[in-house]
Amino acid sequence: MSLRAASPSGRGAPLYERVAENIAHLVETGTFRPGDRIPSVRQLSQQKRVSVTTVLQAYYLLEDQGLIEARPQSGYYVRTQLPSGLPEPEISSPEPDPSQVSIHELTMMVLRDAENPNLAQFGTAVPNPELVPTRKLNSIMASLARHNEPRSNQYVFPPGCEALRVQIAQRAVNAGCSLSPNDIVITSGCIEAIDLCLRAVCHRGDTVAIESPMYFGILQLMESLGVQALEIPTHPREGISLEALRFAVEHTPVKACLVVPNFNNPLGSCMPDEKKKELVELLARYDLPLIENDISGELYHSGKRPIVSKAYDRKGLVMLCSSFSKEIAPGYRVGWVAPGRLKPTVEWLKFTANIATATLPQLAIAGFLESGGYDHHLRHIRRVYARYVAQMSLAIMRHFPKETRITRPTGGFVLWVQLPEKVDSLVLYRQALKAGITLTPGYIFSATNQYRNFIRLNAAFWSAEAERAIERLGEIIKEIA
Ligand SMILES: Cc1ncc(COP(=O)(O)O)c(C=O)c1O
Repeated sequence: MSLRAASPSGRGAPLYERVAENIAHLVETGTFRPGDRIPSVRQLSQQKRVSVTTVLQAYYLLEDQGLIEARPQSGYYVRTQLPSGLPEPEISSPEPDPSQVSIHELTMMVLRDAENPNLAQFGTAVPNPELVPTRKLNSIMASLARHNEPRSNQYVFPPGCEALRVQIAQRAVNAGCSLSPNDIVITSGCIEAIDLCLRAVCHRGDTVAIESPMYFGILQLMESLGVQALEIPTHPREGISLEALRFAVEHTPVKACLVVPNFNNPLGSCMPDEKKKELVELLARYDLPLIENDISGELYHSGKRPIVSKAYDRKGLVMLCSSFSKEIAPGYRVGWVAPGRLKPTVEWLKFTANIATATLPQLAIAGFLESGGYDHHLRHIRRVYARYVAQMSLAIMRHFPKETRITRPTGGFVLWVQLPEKVDSLVLYRQALKAGITLTPGYIFSATNQYRNFIRLNAAFWSAEAERAIERLGEIIKEIA
């Protein structure tokens, strides 16, 4: 695959195109990587013995192609966002009927790899431990222990720790949402928030409409609850198809809809605001609850935080779920839900599930948010993940077969990769393991074996070693294809 313009500039091409071609080649071969500063206009004009205008024209061309960007008073940089022209997977086309989910064996197998330190970790979508604010959290925990407050060893019954709910309500403003601390129930991670919502809105045998592909942890919940999945076609950049969803709710007795509108896992798709509004209005017409998972909403790569669908909720039907697992500490198991009109039911279900979420982690996260260090931490990890995703994309372009398609996420840290038709992701998974690499086979992102030749790759652990593993993975894929 090439980063360069469709027709490579030959000898007869204008000088500036040849200069641009040369820089594009250096990016393609990894000399300059996403986020790197390229030579200044003056340096390059001296080095190549061409005029400043020629270099400027070359840089404008590369900017138009999406390969580099100018930063005021600083120079030109290889873009951390993905260059345009990458082929993306097409909108998904899952089975039109509800299906019983049954993917647990394969899922548990993939999860076990996450514990193996000898594998290149492209499998589970966990954050990079180096980017978790461990020192700060440890010091908050130590201070809680020093003050030896008896309340930190007691239950905090649902809805959970008030100081934390205040912080969550304050931050919700950035997501376009006006919440009071009383609207929120603390949970053990986002997955429990979703579990409680599903149990509040449906029973065994009911059907829930979901995006396809869908994060396998949620499919597992549905499997364990005996809830059928109605998979709806989903666009790799703009999320669930509203036309298909409208048809589904008109023709199937759906009990709820469950989506990850901001940086869906595995697609990385982010629904435009107008579409979120339409989604909420569509479901409100049928009085159907929307379970909204915003776990990665804070991990946008640039610009501003995308708002949540809950911002458009007028009837209390949107159940907004999230956690601190992607950006602070997955091991703390602290999440939350704003369940709208079903709050009393969710609160009661939380109590019946496990009485309360552990107290100390709630206090520690509240302390971290209160300390003011959270925004600084977020700015840092957003930049790093943006760079890692871009670097992994470029490495895939360099080393995978040319028929490969990849998503262009604008947030989060996973890539969804469509491989040539002949590649079975399970065969690839096994071969890759032998070579010391773990990845997630596409099969487990659907209840109906939709994604045979797809894989999800986690870019959060990017490094020179990871790049070599991608190169090796590319070789294995080419052997199978
Ligand atoms: C979309 C999505 N939802 C939920 C979860 C689980 O979140 P938590 O660890 O907060 O329970 C994950 C974890 O990868 C996820 O990607």
